[in-house]
Amino acid sequence: METEKTQTAAEQMTDRDLSEQIKKVTKESHVRAENTELMLSFQRGKVTLPQYKLLLCSLYEIYQALEEELDRNSNHPGVAPIYFPAELARQESIEKDLEYFYGPDWREKIVVPAATKRYCHRLRQIGKENPEFLLAHAYTRYLGDLSGGQVLGRIAQKSMGLKNSEGLSFFAFPGVSSPNLFKQLYRSRMNSVELMEEERNGVLEEAVRAFEFNIQVFDDLQKLLSVTENNLQSCLTHSKPVNAKGFQ
Ligand code: HEM
Repeated sequence: METEKTQTAAEQMTDRDLSEQIKKVTKESHVRAENTELMLSFQRGKVTLPQYKLLLCSLYEIYQALEEELDRNSNHPGVAPIYFPAELARQESIEKDLEYFYGPDWREKIVVPAATKRYCHRLRQIGKENPEFLLAHAYTRYLGDLSGGQVLGRIAQKSMGLKNSEGLSFFAFPGVSSPNLFKQLYRSRMNSVELMEEERNGVLEEAVRAFEFNIQVFDDLQKLLSVTENNLQSCLTHSKPVNAKGFQ
């Protein structure tokens, strides 16, 4: 009987933790994200170079917005505890990958769909208006990268036959020796953030929105790829010049 009581109390404690709540409210969105065409290509070991290159372009824009806003708000009480630029920052890693695939003038070649622009716009808006919501976005991206992302990196290497991890810096976290221990630390820092009930609900809603933005980016990328493939097909059929900017 005593054990039962203690267990219930412990469960209630964890139920109130932001890290548990955020995982729970985004569970269904996570399943949907995993089942997007792009993520399924990864999981099936069928990710192609055009898919990966386009994804890197969008990730570059997303992390640039996210990391600029985190930097600017690094002293905000909702951001400071989860601010780990040395361990997590992705912008430079993605730059290296883009340079590897597109060459030194990669900045002029990157292609991003409308959904990516909308996602970045939201990041910049909350950076100005509700910096505590940045936690929801940082959680969605960084904890994802340190979880399923680690497996996806190895699959991507095999699928595209990349040697010596070239073009795969995005997946590598040299400042994190144990992703699992780091995720534990990150969760405990999330739980240390003091939020009023309304703010907490806002953060939880924002996390669901963050997953939704990611899903829309993946879907938009796939659409862009199929349009390009169709263009290539029709160009081949009608012998018109091919405009394959960003896909060379
Ligand atoms: C956690 C797989 C895509 C965000 C995880 C975990 C796995 C996983 C195995 C660990 C679960 C645990 O520790 O209990 C995958 C696979 C994916 C995928 C196979 C696609 C092929 C995504 C995407 C996002 C994402 C697209 C967001 C954009 C997260 C987050 C966590 C997580 C935030 C941490 C959950 C938590 O512990 O609170 N994922 N994932 N994942 N994933 Fe994914």
